[in-house]
Amino acid sequence: MPAGKETVLNDNAFLVSETDAKGHILFANKQFCDVAEYDEEELLGKPHNIVRHADMPKIAFKDLWETVQRGEVWQGFVKNKTKSGGFYWVLATVYPYKNDKDEQCYMSCRRKPTRQEIEKYTALYKTMH
Ligand SMILES: Cc1cc2nc3c(=O)[nH]c(=O)nc-3n(C[C@H](O)[C@H](O)[C@H](O)COP(=O)(O)O)c2cc1C
Repeated sequence: MPAGKETVLNDNAFLVSETDAKGHILFANKQFCDVAEYDEEELLGKPHNIVRHADMPKIAFKDLWETVQRGEVWQGFVKNKTKSGGFYWVLATVYPYKNDKDEQCYMSCRRKPTRQEIEKYTALYKTMH
């Protein structure tokens, strides 16, 4: 299978999305939509695994969910897929919070990883399947 084209983030990129307690997307900022190649309307209400890349080990997301469900902040390197079958790497920080109706929600803020970090996690995740 072809590897797909990499989208390299701008140095000051800041990609944000918010989900409900089950991981359905409530909000995605323009930078997130642009990099993932979706319109916001296509993402709202969808499970966040819409951008899941097959190279990501399952255990990374298990760790993400267990961490935020404990009320803690999770940080990790994530390879996501674009709508056209390419990919992009982010350093994601996921925060639990309650909205104004006291419902549990989560927010992920993503920045550009370094090339060395991308190389390290590309190799590491290959060993985790
Ligand atoms: C706030 C938040 C942001 C998330 N962002 C991503 C993401 O960018 N890419 C991704 O693959 N999964 C993300 N996830 C995890 C997904 O909900 C999902 O667990 C993951 O894609 C694995 O899919 P699966 O649970 O169907 O195996 C996020 C979860 C939360 C709570």
